[in-house]
Amino acid sequence: MFDALHTPDNVLVVGGSSEIGLEIAKQLARRGSSKFLLAGRSLEEMQRAARQISQVSERAAASVSVIHFDVLAEGATESLLAAAKAELETIDMAVIAVGALGNQASDEKDPAAAERILEVNFSKLAPAVLAIANQMATQGFGHIVVLSSVAGVRVRRSNFIYGAAKAGMDGFATALADAMIPSGVKVTVVRPGFVTTKMTAHLSPAPLSTTAAKVAAETLRAADRGKVTVWVPPLMAVVATVYRHLPRVVARRVPF
Ligand SMILES: NC(=O)c1ccc[n+]([C@@H]2O[C@H](COP(=O)([O-])OP(=O)(O)OC[C@H]3O[C@@H](n4cnc5c(N)ncnc54)[C@H](OP(=O)(O)O)[C@@H]3O)[C@@H](O)[C@H]2O)c1
Repeated sequence: MFDALHTPDNVLVVGGSSEIGLEIAKQLARRGSSKFLLAGRSLEEMQRAARQISQVSERAAASVSVIHFDVLAEGATESLLAAAKAELETIDMAVIAVGALGNQASDEKDPAAAERILEVNFSKLAPAVLAIANQMATQGFGHIVVLSSVAGVRVRRSNFIYGAAKAGMDGFATALADAMIPSGVKVTVVRPGFVTTKMTAHLSPAPLSTTAAKVAAETLRAADRGKVTVWVPPLMAVVATVYRHLPRVVARRVPF
């Protein structure tokens, strides 16, 4: 359930070793969320994240569990939902932080590698999000936070595999928000620009780059207000809207 300030008791983080996911979980722990389930591929990284969440927790008794989850694995979503039922009872908030950038230059020469990026970011992830939404609809409440990206707003030549997958996920999740209205389930879609996390550690920061902590703060502010979309930083909304409407011949020359 949620308290009067929309702080959930029970939180599922899918992509449990994500730096942005961890920051959201830590900020929720500080606000008083009491049970967390981190679902991801690296048990070691998630156990490290679990310790950080416990350390900042408002409640000494906050519990943090971890389970292995690979979105590409057969039966992963069924196991995830069963674990969520056992550990959390109700999924009050689900943070969907799974994502992989891939390597555009080599992936565009290798359709199987491109397929994996499309699956991780969209075609395998979206059905998992739908299953979580349906479970929340059965319980009659819940809030799903989906990490989308500015990269999906207008897909660029320089990262069109990741960008196309994010565009798909963004469209799916924003429409899911509409579909879920009668059930009482809310969806908030987050569109960060460049965030300095391990995902981007090998890249030079782009203009308006931000941090995982700032993304987490803006995300929770938007979720508290029941907003369907949020841009981080907020100025990114203006930049992305302008970029989206540039003629293709001009957009093609923008150097990022
Ligand atoms: N960083 C940015 O600039 C940026 C900008 C816009 C949007 N985003 C989005 O924000 C979200 C979180 O990203 P982040 O910056 O926090 O990066 P991150 O720390 O690399 O988090 C990505 C997460 O996705 C997980 N993941 C990758 N493949 C998976 C799979 N097959 N099954 C399950 N989990 C898998 C990773 O697990 P492993 O640790 O096991 O690889 C990791 O936990 C992603 O959706 C990303 O696309 C990031």
